[in-house]
Amino acid sequence: MASTRRVAVVTGSNKGIGFGIVRGLCKTFNGDVYLTARNEGLGRKAVEDLKKEGLNPLFHQLDISDSTSIQNLKAFLQKQYGGLDVLVNNAGIFKDESDAPFAEKVEETLKLNFWDTLAVCEVLYPLLRPHARVVNVGSIYSTMAFGRCSDSLKAKISNPNISMDQLKDLMRDFEAVAKAGTVEENGWPKWAYHVSKIGVRVMSYIQAKAFAHDSSRPDIIVNSCCPGSVHTDTNYNGTKTIDEGAVTPLYLALLPPNVESPKGEFVCEKVVEHWPS
Ligand SMILES: NC(=O)c1ccc[n+]([C@@H]2O[C@H](COP(=O)([O-])OP(=O)(O)OC[C@H]3O[C@@H](n4cnc5c(N)ncnc54)[C@H](OP(=O)(O)O)[C@@H]3O)[C@@H](O)[C@H]2O)c1
Repeated sequence: MASTRRVAVVTGSNKGIGFGIVRGLCKTFNGDVYLTARNEGLGRKAVEDLKKEGLNPLFHQLDISDSTSIQNLKAFLQKQYGGLDVLVNNAGIFKDESDAPFAEKVEETLKLNFWDTLAVCEVLYPLLRPHARVVNVGSIYSTMAFGRCSDSLKAKISNPNISMDQLKDLMRDFEAVAKAGTVEENGWPKWAYHVSKIGVRVMSYIQAKAFAHDSSRPDIIVNSCCPGSVHTDTNYNGTKTIDEGAVTPLYLALLPPNVESPKGEFVCEKVVEHWPS
């Protein structure tokens, strides 16, 4: 029989900010904490490292690009816990500095940061219990990218009534113009990562709104956030430690029951940020 114990899952947490989030949850979350990784060896090594600190994370394999892997995690959570209480979608990549053609960088970056993250949500959201908290790790680069978008794109991105289908169309449009080599002519900035994080931010807003209307599962909250500039394998110039980078994601993952705000927001340093006008 499934346990009624509360459970938290962090994607891409064998290293970097995700590892810091797992460390923080192990210290503060009242329930089981799953460190997940696409590479089982790296994941188990990370779990052992935290055990040496006296913490007790658990491990489950999760490759967010592999639908079978996501389904396996879902089946496991369903069987062991009968639900899910905290989901931190942290796994992400930054390829803008590579020498690959721009269209390739866009395809790879949007695939993982937007489409695969969305796939995790679509599979795991049915498991979320009342009062669950979801944190989608975005970036302040979404604000920078928004600033460089055409007025027409800005209006679509910040439209309070935007639907998930409309967001998907926007992301597909960016991929298409990247392939055609006409990104700037079509009003987009030439940044793959930044635009992928516009996708994460708007996705979180739309999902939060949908949960606000789900009377069968009250008080499920989705937010996105920027961890700040954190020194990791993705950002050698980052100035924060991974534990400092984990502060805002942890704040959102541990929002107390029935808070009024933040809900569906983009949060930096624990403060809500809006699209610039
Ligand atoms: N560092 C910053 O300054 C900064 C700033 C703003 C936002 N962020 C965001 O913070 C998040 C974490 O970044 P980080 O700086 O901690 O980067 P990181 O140290 O490179 O960690 C990224 C994590 O994502 C995992 N990952 C990649 N592809 C995956 C997949 N298909 N399935 C599951 N996991 C996968 C990596 O696993 P492997 O070890 O197997 O590659 C790794 O565990 C990202 O979403 C990033 O965009 C970072």
